[in-house]
Amino acid sequence: MSLLDAARAVRENAYAPYSHFKVGAAVRSKTGMIYVGCNVENVAYPEGTCAEAGAIAAMVAAGETELIEVCVIADSPHPVSPCGGCRQKLAEFGRGDVPVRLATVDGPEAMTTISDLLPGAFDQSHMERA
Ligand code: THU
Repeated sequence: MSLLDAARAVRENAYAPYSHFKVGAAVRSKTGMIYVGCNVENVAYPEGTCAEAGAIAAMVAAGETELIEVCVIADSPHPVSPCGGCRQKLAEFGRGDVPVRLATVDGPEAMTTISDLLPGAFDQSHMERA
């Protein structure tokens, strides 16, 4: 199954009774495995989680910590833009040149990378003294 098909399929399981905006995400790990996630909202709104966070959590739960490809899909007029928190989460587990495919149910797509999504990312080097 392609990364896009995996993201499209898991999107159906999104729990979004408040926003009614279902999102699916799929990441491919270094070993070639695909991990998926969907957004899971909560009546206490800030407790909701994004699709990207779910896919990353599934990858880490399976014992993997490096992703090499990302796909996110939503029913949106233009490709959905991962939130700031998810950009930082992606940067934790993927190199800057990792391709991120932003898809829509209707077809329009955009391609970007983790470093384009999060220029100047905070990383470990900021905490190191010379
Ligand atoms: N959402 C995601 O899951 N991923 C994104 O990249 C953008 C937003 C979710 C969070 C919330 O459940 C709903 O979409 C509306 O913001």
